[in-house]
Amino acid sequence: MSPAFEYVAVGTLDEALARIRQHGDDAKVLAGGQSLVPLLHYRLADPRVVVDINDLPLARIAEDNGRLRLGALVRHHQLEESDAIARRCPVLREAAALIGNVRVRALGTIGGSLAHADAAAELPMVTLALDGRFTLASTGGMRTVAARDFFVGPLTTVMRPDELLTEIDVEAPPATGWAIEEIARRAGDFALVAVTALVGLDRQGRVTRARLAFGGVAPTPVRAAAAEEALVGHEPTPERLARVATLARDGLNPQSDAFVSGAYRRHLAGVLARRALARAVDRSEARERAGACERSEAGERAGACERSEAGERAGACERSEARERAGAVAPGSPRVQMKLVINGRTREVDAPPDATLLAVLRDTLGIFDVKEGCDEGVCGACTVLLDARPVSSCLLLAAGVRGRPIMTVKGLEGPSGLHPLQEAFVRHGAVQCGFCTPGMLLTALVFLERNPRPRRDEIRRALEGNLCRCTGYTKIIDAIEAYAREDGRG
Ligand SMILES: Cc1cc2nc3c(=O)[nH]c(=O)nc-3n(C[C@H](O)[C@H](O)[C@H](O)COP(=O)(O)OP(=O)(O)OC[C@H]3O[C@@H](n4cnc5c(N)ncnc54)[C@H](O)[C@@H]3O)c2cc1C
Ligand code: FES
Ligand code: FES
Repeated sequence: MSPAFEYVAVGTLDEALARIRQHGDDAKVLAGGQSLVPLLHYRLADPRVVVDINDLPLARIAEDNGRLRLGALVRHHQLEESDAIARRCPVLREAAALIGNVRVRALGTIGGSLAHADAAAELPMVTLALDGRFTLASTGGMRTVAARDFFVGPLTTVMRPDELLTEIDVEAPPATGWAIEEIARRAGDFALVAVTALVGLDRQGRVTRARLAFGGVAPTPVRAAAAEEALVGHEPTPERLARVATLARDGLNPQSDAFVSGAYRRHLAGVLARRALARAVDRSEARERAGACERSEAGERAGACERSEAGERAGACERSEARERAGAVAPGSPRVQMKLVINGRTREVDAPPDATLLAVLRDTLGIFDVKEGCDEGVCGACTVLLDARPVSSCLLLAAGVRGRPIMTVKGLEGPSGLHPLQEAFVRHGAVQCGFCTPGMLLTALVFLERNPRPRRDEIRRALEGNLCRCTGYTKIIDAIEAYAREDGRG
């Protein structure tokens, strides 16, 4: 059987550019795969070649002359966790935390999100508010495109098929107050409507800068220029903010779709704009009062950047060395020979280029502790840990993870039997049919490593991307809470 596509992993930017130029419209770039793999599943994308760019050194976060420069492969979780972003551009952190679920954020990249150009996605909207500039590379050279010129329609940008988005740069700090408000039908869904507000105040408390951008209300993210102008130079009283939000709302004409009417979306846009502006103003005033601006010691900043760059470089080297060891992919090959490192054991696999990790684990290797549910990254049944982060194995190409450490729930068990968190699940009746349990356990353990003493609402939020049809979640949360209190750690 011939493969659905050829899989090519590139090691240098030149190689990537040569490949996408050679194949043009027939090639698709693979970054985090969190949008592309679902498109491949549904045959909405049907490339002849998939060019995996994950080994390119494009995951740096650097500060430069009042702007932040982000490599296209900066993952959503990096935006959430980076110190430089928290200090210089916290609105990006707030945006990233709203994206999908923890598994989407582990793999999805800023470049992939902008290139995919979903009008309801957070990062296109926020980079538009931040007057972002995008660097596009091709074999013919580089060009820079402003965010306001980049998005041209639903899932459509000005990028040519032979171009790769390599870097995004944004103002940092953009303003002293920021806020994102959005409403989605379910936790983890794309927003029905999302709003970003950025506000700067002078010492008299008048607005010096205002940015208001919407997602989900038009074929592309949009700025509300008239509303921004109506705010600058004025005191941000609640009445003025309400008037500005109404002005912004009245400039929108969202379409109805299968989920909600255009009129409802428009109403939401007005309500959320008012809330976002109010929160941005509050933050700006609090910062003024505290005398805090985003500036911290230059040395500390530079140090942090250097550390994260060095870490990235080391990470990229380790990844590509691991891939070398795990077997090369012959161009045009109908099968990929690969070594997968599962629960510490190396397994040799021969699979088609379009095989997902989930398919290889279950159908080729007979590892059934990984479950198959939705097949689109929503339910969490197929969760495994990749490089110690939870990911949806249904949205990963197996060829793309060769040589990298993968852990399934089986890897939790020690010589003396179940892991103490598994025991806590049993004790608290958190397992009924058991279908969601592997994903729940792996997700909870990674969360607890970072938050050893979480509040109940934090546990609930951490598990938002893992669905259980049996327990009503209460017993699962009880078990995790008990384990965290140490009465379950044995
Ligand atoms: C269950 C689920 C929920 C989600 N919820 C949200 C949400 O609430 N908000 C949100 O914003 N997103 C959401 N996403 C999408 C997610 O943010 C994706 O990570 C993102 O849209 C694409 O990034 P990626 O790195 O995975 O790109 P990929 O899937 O690898 O690629 C996406 C597209 O961009 C192209 N591409 C990728 N990188 C480049 C590049 N550097 N240059 C040129 N072209 C490139 C690819 O060829 C492809 O066409 C969700 C996804 C899932 C599965
Ligand atoms: S998230 Fe992969 S099967 Fe549901
Ligand atoms: S225990 Fe059955 S799906 Fe959660």
